[in-house]
Amino acid sequence: MTLPESDKQPVRLRVNGESIERVIPADRTLLLFLRDDLGMTGTKCGCEIGECGACTVLLDGNPVCSCLVLVVAVDGADVLTVESLADGDNLTDLQEAFLDHDAVHCGFCTPGLLMSAEFLLQRNPEPTELEIRTAISGNLCRCTGYVQIVEAIQDAAARRRAKAP
Ligand code: FES
Ligand code: FES
Repeated sequence: MTLPESDKQPVRLRVNGESIERVIPADRTLLLFLRDDLGMTGTKCGCEIGECGACTVLLDGNPVCSCLVLVVAVDGADVLTVESLADGDNLTDLQEAFLDHDAVHCGFCTPGLLMSAEFLLQRNPEPTELEIRTAISGNLCRCTGYVQIVEAIQDAAARRRAKAP
């Protein structure tokens, strides 16, 4: 169903550091705004009911399921997606660790996991296994069984600590 023009609203967001202004339907979710309106398809669309975590992004610094967020409700917010992590072909240490530990199989869960893990590591440079498992408990992976994912996050934390001044 197409909403009438009167049901559209102007919004302004900061996405991966870039200021974005659009007029959008009031019922547009952040997930579909990112993927369909902005063409940022790194954030994945799984269940669209807040169960799988594939759509996880950082909203004003906190991980959220973007499928549950209406853009008009977060007008003015700062959004970071998985596209914010790598600098061109230069992957972050977290992304490198996922590759090194074979923590990416089909990869559908990976963008959401990376954002949840990034949030954890920014606040807790030396997380325990339990803290890692808790931090990614909202991100479902049906391929790897989580062992490699947890090892990758532990390794990324160690790499960051080794680099810290
Ligand atoms: S697509 Fe948002 S939680 Fe599954
Ligand atoms: S790697 Fe396939 S769902 Fe996680």
